[in-house]
Amino acid sequence: MGRIDQDTVNRIIDAADIVEVVSDFVKLRRSGANYKGLCPFHNERTPSFSVNKARNICKCFSCGKGGSPVNFIMEHEQMSFQEALRYLARKYNIEIVEKELSAQERQAENDREAMLAVNDFALKNFRHNLHDTADGRNIALQYFRHRGLSDAMIERFQLGYALDMPSALIDAAHEAGYVDKYLIDTGLAGVSERDGQHRLYDRFRGRVLFPIHTISGRVVGFGGRTMRSDKNLAKYVNSPESVIYKKNLELYGLYQAKSAIARRDKCILVEGYLDVISMHQAGVENVVASSGTSLTEGQIRAIRRFTNNVTVIYDADAAGIKASLRGIKMLLSENMNVKTLLLPAGDDPDSFAQSHSAGQVETYLAENERDIIDFMVEVLMRDVNANDPMARAKVVNTILETIACIDEPVKRQEYISLCSRLMSIAEEVLVPQLNIFIAGRYEEAEKNIQREMARASISDIGKEEGGKNDGQTQTSPDRPLLDLSGNKLKPFEAMLARYLVRYGLLYIINVENDDKSVTPLTTFDVIQSELDIDNIVFSNAEYAAVFKAVGELRHGSWLADRDRRLAEIESEVQTKLEEAREQIRQSGGSMAQIERAEAEVSLSLKGFREHAVNDFDMQYCQSHLINSPDDLVRATALDLLVDKYTLSKIYAKGGDTYSEHDNMYELVQKALCELRNSLVTDLIANLTRELSALDPADADAALDLLRRIADYKSYQQRLAGALGDRIILPRR
Ligand code: CTP
Ligand code: MN
Repeated sequence: MGRIDQDTVNRIIDAADIVEVVSDFVKLRRSGANYKGLCPFHNERTPSFSVNKARNICKCFSCGKGGSPVNFIMEHEQMSFQEALRYLARKYNIEIVEKELSAQERQAENDREAMLAVNDFALKNFRHNLHDTADGRNIALQYFRHRGLSDAMIERFQLGYALDMPSALIDAAHEAGYVDKYLIDTGLAGVSERDGQHRLYDRFRGRVLFPIHTISGRVVGFGGRTMRSDKNLAKYVNSPESVIYKKNLELYGLYQAKSAIARRDKCILVEGYLDVISMHQAGVENVVASSGTSLTEGQIRAIRRFTNNVTVIYDADAAGIKASLRGIKMLLSENMNVKTLLLPAGDDPDSFAQSHSAGQVETYLAENERDIIDFMVEVLMRDVNANDPMARAKVVNTILETIACIDEPVKRQEYISLCSRLMSIAEEVLVPQLNIFIAGRYEEAEKNIQREMARASISDIGKEEGGKNDGQTQTSPDRPLLDLSGNKLKPFEAMLARYLVRYGLLYIINVENDDKSVTPLTTFDVIQSELDIDNIVFSNAEYAAVFKAVGELRHGSWLADRDRRLAEIESEVQTKLEEAREQIRQSGGSMAQIERAEAEVSLSLKGFREHAVNDFDMQYCQSHLINSPDDLVRATALDLLVDKYTLSKIYAKGGDTYSEHDNMYELVQKALCELRNSLVTDLIANLTRELSALDPADADAALDLLRRIADYKSYQQRLAGALGDRIILPRR
């Protein structure tokens, strides 16, 4: 299949509407200028997936995924850029014009094919050496036997042997008509310079070879293990990275393991080539290796095509965990379910599989698999002296940082409870620290998105207006702030809840839409959309319950009941009007007197109507809440209506004539500012604490913290502006 020509690409990108494209997979609802829905890239219960129609982009505030319509389809359908374009072309009935491949592009295709062909040739050659040469049989096959590998495994993994000669493979390749270029590009041949002359030499000499297959089974590289015991020789020599071998995308054994991974809905992760093969031989076939390097995102994505469950096998304990921490965090942030398995001391998967029967291996795996965090806490804490607070704090941070990678709030909460128990530290101490790490992750994710969008808008998708940065989304305080420790926030949440109970269903402001039509917003609408913007949730359960209950009224029975009441009020107004006119006529004044009287009547009726409607809206909300079947809602609403939370004096600038509900919009905004301010103050305090606990040598981390603190402070300044002189700045 050829490539799509640029005009067609432009047409597709112009046509693709982010809301329409996403709506095929996600149920969206309007939220202010944006749309929201449940993120399709990770499991969640509250929507953090946001779609911006104007900028034609989407993104998840929680897991960070998203982008242009093309990006969305690529990610969601696991398609390449070209495939995603074809998908969108079908959706929008755009005829695809294929581009003539340029000579250069055709060459690139040919290059890849030629490299794969050379690798195939080498594979055959290496396998031939193993089985049909004296050295191969005496040294390499002997070695495999000694390591306990069966013929079936040697066949299955296509193991081979490179003769211990300077250029055995190169000579054979030349004879078969292969040219130097592809021997060099694949790394099968190295180049040396001697006496001003370039000479080729075999990269693999006297080594058994493990071919590395792509998911579809093409050989893109080799790992070669030496047959000598000479400690000065590298134990393994591997093919270099190349056009066909991207090390961060391939996993050793995935080709052979993929169907077992899908069948068992689990992938076991080990370190080495022989670990994979020995496990297969023991009947455990859902095993792959990251081949000595740490796990990459690309590798995790490859696994995710087959399962979400990963079990990591360690042959060490605390040291092993620390070494693979990055991989664990990456697995967790990719929403994998991570388990771990500790082998008996001294064993690696290879030796364990070789020294036990298939049944024993299965049983051991089934019985010893453990939850990763649970395991981490236990193993890391075991090494820490209870009298060494610094070491303890470090371990706690390591663990919290790992937990922060998990997106599922319920799961996080379970782990926090677990940590609290195992480490004897109160949850209230752990949660704020955890939230700082989560905030850091969001910040990171946000930056990545911006980087990606910038990149996307520079490259093929250059027509999008996406990449330009309006500065709005740049600084951290515009990121979601999270629910921090509930209690400091209580008074502010109480104030908002009070407004909700009393005025929740009162229309307090009109917003103008794109088409100049006007939408009235209630107090509830305003509070909801403002909290949504910052991803703030009520942290006190009782106020959260009130908020939810008002929302249910807002989108439930209220509007229909209100329409009925409006009709009643209208007919009352008519009756009153007629009565008044009759009276005026009978009073028999002059024309001017009559006109004045009628104007007065109409004004007072207007007031009557407004008052009646407001009265209905307020009564409706209050009475439904205090009659709610939910105990918590009923009790809280009652509490808030009995004027325990009297109007703060700071609000009552206007003197006696001051009316709360006429100023509801401003009051709600102020209460929201104070809530945000309190959240940010908390965040700054936590960051400052973290800063003072920092290893003085860690300049990078210190700089990072200082920058974040500065970000929050400048945000706080902006809040101060919004609050006028009444802002409560931190005392220190
Ligand atoms: N590895 C590598 N290059 C190295 C060292 C290791 O690619 N220089 C990778 C290999 O994939 C190897 C894995 O890391 O399989 C684990 O290394 P190690 O434990 O040293 O090798 P084993 O596979 O256990 O080999 P053996 O049992 O034969 O010593
Ligand atoms: Mn080993």
